[in-house]
Amino acid sequence: MGFPVRKFDAVIVGGGGAGLRAALQLSKSGLNCAVLSKVFPTRSHTVAAQGGISASLGNVQEDRWDWHMYDTVKGSDWLGDQDAIEFMCRAAPEAVIELEHMGMPFDRVESGKIYQRPFGGHTAEHGKRAVERACAVADRTGHAMLHTLYQQNVRANTQFFVEWTALDLIRNEDGDVVGVTAMEMETGDVYIFHAKAVMFATGGGGRIYASSTNAYMNTGDGLGICARAGIPLEDMEFWQFHPTGVAGAGVLITEGVRGEGGILLNADGERFMERYAPTVKDLASRDVVSRAMAMEIYEGRGCGKNKDHVLLKIDHIGAEKIMEKLPGIREISIQFAGIDPIKDPIPVVPTTHYMMGGIPTNYLGEVIVPQGDEYEVPVKGLYAAGECACASVHGANRLGTNSLLDLVVFGKSGGDSMIKFIREQDGWKPLPENAGELTRQRLERLDNQTDGENVDALRRELQRSVQLHAGVFRTDAILQEGVKQVMALAERVKKTEIKDKSKVWNTARIEALELDNLIEVAKATLVSAEARKESRGAHASDDHPERDDVNWMKHTLYHPLTNTLSYKPVHTKPLTVDYIEPAKRVY
Ligand code: FUM
Repeated sequence: MGFPVRKFDAVIVGGGGAGLRAALQLSKSGLNCAVLSKVFPTRSHTVAAQGGISASLGNVQEDRWDWHMYDTVKGSDWLGDQDAIEFMCRAAPEAVIELEHMGMPFDRVESGKIYQRPFGGHTAEHGKRAVERACAVADRTGHAMLHTLYQQNVRANTQFFVEWTALDLIRNEDGDVVGVTAMEMETGDVYIFHAKAVMFATGGGGRIYASSTNAYMNTGDGLGICARAGIPLEDMEFWQFHPTGVAGAGVLITEGVRGEGGILLNADGERFMERYAPTVKDLASRDVVSRAMAMEIYEGRGCGKNKDHVLLKIDHIGAEKIMEKLPGIREISIQFAGIDPIKDPIPVVPTTHYMMGGIPTNYLGEVIVPQGDEYEVPVKGLYAAGECACASVHGANRLGTNSLLDLVVFGKSGGDSMIKFIREQDGWKPLPENAGELTRQRLERLDNQTDGENVDALRRELQRSVQLHAGVFRTDAILQEGVKQVMALAERVKKTEIKDKSKVWNTARIEALELDNLIEVAKATLVSAEARKESRGAHASDDHPERDDVNWMKHTLYHPLTNTLSYKPVHTKPLTVDYIEPAKRVY
């Protein structure tokens, strides 16, 4: 076996919102729970979520959980699983009040209740009018959530392994998950974490793109680890482009800016969203707004000397409101665009933001795989929650602020499922003889490779290729070329070399290991996208411009070990209410 072993009831890989919410559940139940995190937990990428967390509290005007459910199904372009969507939208008000009671410092309305702002695709009465559903802590909601959950975990005695990175899954002869290997990043020491249950909450893999709102650490680690262990990845063709990344920098400007009254303008000074989404205009769902922006730029109405962005104007709401509700946005605009939004509009462009696909799970957080005639058989001992998981509540396009909700709802339900599973176990299942062998081989190759390619250069090549071939608009030919390039890159990734071992040894080694994960995410993305011959949500094909419910209302499963695809049906039975029938998606 070779590596030293540490034993925990539960191991959570990832210290963001989902991981912390799951860990809290486990630790509070008295189980021994470890969280492995590449960064200090309060610096996890959840920190970048700005505008809010959705819940139909109705603190500003009437709202209902079933309206939230309708909006989420419509936003998903009917690819979301309606049982999971009902579960999440019903649970939302309680989840937010729970955070409030833990101490999350929400903004307040006059009455003292939690402040709520409008957001894209959030409507009352099935699309009739915009509704305030995003519960906000100014424009730093994710930041406040992380601090709240981290403190609660400290109180509950969760054991944190900070600056540790998970490397590979350990499955026994029956395929059950019994642990992970992980490296302490400072020393390079590798341990086996022997566990009764493991959860991945590792966030997204947006760093497969050259331009992304994602942090550098978002390298799809949970997905890469699962892929190497033979677990398929679901709906990876669906990537969300956030309409408002700072042009040239990629940093997120929250949709909350438009929620507070901001508007998008083209080079003619026209509020062009009036043409694309006459009812809710700038607050249409993200795929719709991003495509509209891309069309404006493509047709020559972009701004700036290169006509390559549009403008987000917010000065008309007044300096006082900007300082109170959007202070972080003002800072970002000054630092990354060199403009003060109190006076001038912000240059923005659609930027990769969120991965709708991921490790396949049900709404209980169990990882589910096809087996024989069954579509969804749980992998014993393995759970996933948050962006790395595909429950699937976001389907082909996620609504803004449903991400923070997803983290806490499925973090909690996944934690509860783990508690139940662990209590049913009779101690730890033994580690297999070859536990850690894959990790040993990967490290040995890296240590000994002498004629390989530079990790950084190869990663940049991959990012440029994915950016070019899996963008806002796609064609058959572009996707085919993308598959070819990514597959060729995958062969070269197998031969990366750390050039100057004496200087930056561990950092370089971790970047090489992360590239192993990025390439799995990229392969799944391109192969799944190339196969889907329709346009749905964030997957917009010029060659197949219509949604095709007859042939394509189904989830994609990418099988990494064979590089093949299979499909499974969308869940059309909600838990208690009637199925929301597919309709044309207009805003
Ligand atoms: O626009 C935003 O504040 C981002 C929120 C989200 O992605 O949910």
